Amino acid sequence: MGEALVDSYGRTVRDLRISVTDRCNFRCQYCMPEEGMVWLPRTDILTFEEIERVARVCVERFGVDSIRLTGGEPTVRAHLPTLVAKLAALRVGGDPDGRGVDLAMTTNGASLRLMARDLHDAGLRRLNISCDSLQRERFLAITKRDALDAVLDGIDAALAAGLDPVKLNCVLMRGINDDEIVDFARFGRERGVQVRFIEFMPLDASDEWSANRVVPGAEIVAAIDAVYPLAAVEGRGSQPADRYRYRDGAGEIGVIASVSEPFCGACDRIRLTAEGQLRNCLFAVDETDLRPLLRGGGSDDELAAAIIGNVGRKWAGHSINQVTFIRPARSMSQIGG
Ligand code: 5AD
Ligand code: SF4
Repeated sequence: MGEALVDSYGRTVRDLRISVTDRCNFRCQYCMPEEGMVWLPRTDILTFEEIERVARVCVERFGVDSIRLTGGEPTVRAHLPTLVAKLAALRVGGDPDGRGVDLAMTTNGASLRLMARDLHDAGLRRLNISCDSLQRERFLAITKRDALDAVLDGIDAALAAGLDPVKLNCVLMRGINDDEIVDFARFGRERGVQVRFIEFMPLDASDEWSANRVVPGAEIVAAIDAVYPLAAVEGRGSQPADRYRYRDGAGEIGVIASVSEPFCGACDRIRLTAEGQLRNCLFAVDETDLRPLLRGGGSDDELAAAIIGNVGRKWAGHSINQVTFIRPARSMSQIGG
C-alpha cells in the first residue's frame, strides 16, 4: 500500500463508483428508452467477489476511501446487502485497525420500503434518491412508472432506517419539470432532506438532449432564493455539488452544474461498469476491460497496473460546451451515475 492514484493533471482518485447492474425497473426519459433496452447477459456481469476484488485493490493499495453503488438501479441486483457488507469490511490502506470506506448508493428509491433497513445494517451509510417530480402524473410521464408514492415511502424508510444523510437527486429539464424547483425546495425543507438539483447531461439513450433543455444552476439558485433566501456554503472540495444554505436555518440545497459550470478540475472519481470496464470519466470514450484479468488469473499487481494505466489517461475535462465534444456510446444506466 501507500501508492496514490494520481492522474496526469495531478488529481488524486479517492472515489470509486461501482455499477452493479445495467438493469432498471424505471425508464426515465433522460436515461433509457421506454422499450428496446438490451441488457447485458448475466455471465458478463461481475460477481460480488470480482467487484470486491477491484474495490479491495483500490481501497487497500491506493487509499480510495469512498465507494458509491449505482446502476442501472442497484436494488434490482439480487442480494445487494451481501455486497454492501463485503465493501463495508474493507479497510483504507489495508490496515486491519484502519478506517472503513464511506459507503453510499444512488437509487430510484422504489424498493427502499423493503430494503432500507437491510442495507443500513449491512453497512451502507449515505443515500441519494432520484426524484424528478412531486406530481404523480408527471412522475409517471418521466419515469414510465406510477411509482411516486413508493419513492416517497422509500424516502421515509431510508430516514427511519438511520441512513444519513439522505439526499434527493432532481434532474431538471426545461419545459418538463422546471416549474417544480420551489416545490422541491419546500419538500426538502419540510422533510429534512437535502435536494440536489442536477443539470440535464447528454447521457440519455434516446439522444433527446440539447443545450436548450438544460436549466442552468444559476437560474435554479435564483428561483429558490427569491422565495427562501440562500447563502453560498464555502469549500466544496472535490464534491460536484455547489451547496447553499437557507438563511433561516432550514437546511441546504446542492446544485450540480455539470454542463454550465463543469467541475472536472477537482474530479476525484473513477467508475467500474457492471461488466468490469473501468472508466475515468462519465464521458470517457476509452475504457479498460478488467474482466480478462479477473477471469484469466491476473494478479493483484496486474489489476493495479491496469487501474494506474486507465487513470493516467484521464483527460482534463468533458468539453460538453465545445464543438470537439463526443457523446459517449453508453447511456447513464450503462455507466452508473
Ligand atoms: N443527466 C443528468 N443526470 C442524469 N441521471 C441519469 N441520467 C441523467 C442525465 N442524462 C441521474 C439520475 C440519478 C443519477 C444516477 O444520475 O437522476 O440521480
Ligand atoms: Fe433507472 Fe436511474 Fe435510469 Fe431512471 S435514471 S431509468 S431510475 S437507471
